Amino acid sequence: MSYFDELERLLENSYSPFSHFSVASIVVTKSGNIYRGVNVESVAYPTTICAERNAIFSAVTDGTKVGEVSEVHILARDTKGELFGATPCGSCRQVIAEQSLNRATIYVYHSSKDITTYSISELLPDAFVSLE
Ligand code: THU
Repeated sequence: MSYFDELERLLENSYSPFSHFSVASIVVTKSGNIYRGVNVESVAYPTTICAERNAIFSAVTDGTKVGEVSEVHILARDTKGELFGATPCGSCRQVIAEQSLNRATIYVYHSSKDITTYSISELLPDAFVSLE
């Protein structure tokens, strides 16, 4: 299903005064729970957290177990305020691969009607997800 309207509302909560690039993410778990995240930047730049990891960390905090992340939906606005089809950064790809055990589907919204889907295994092939 499309989370466009909810993502658009969520985007208003992005804290991105440095990049002016706002990102919202909704994570859906196998059991149908929904978790939200936005990017939160910091004047100490590297401490910035992406929307996708913020949403997944909320899911884990709430008790979601490894392998239960099923869908990651992403909506972003660029520095001109235009919708921008942002795929997850490398760090987010790692966390998505790990928390879904390579099975998540990523939904990148270019508009309400134009959504590109990816499997996490195509965005991060041969992922390192376990020490065993
Ligand atoms: N960002 C995300 O939140 N998710 C992405 O998939 C790409 C980048 C954020 C980090 C930073 O706050 C801003 O977008 C510009 O890189």
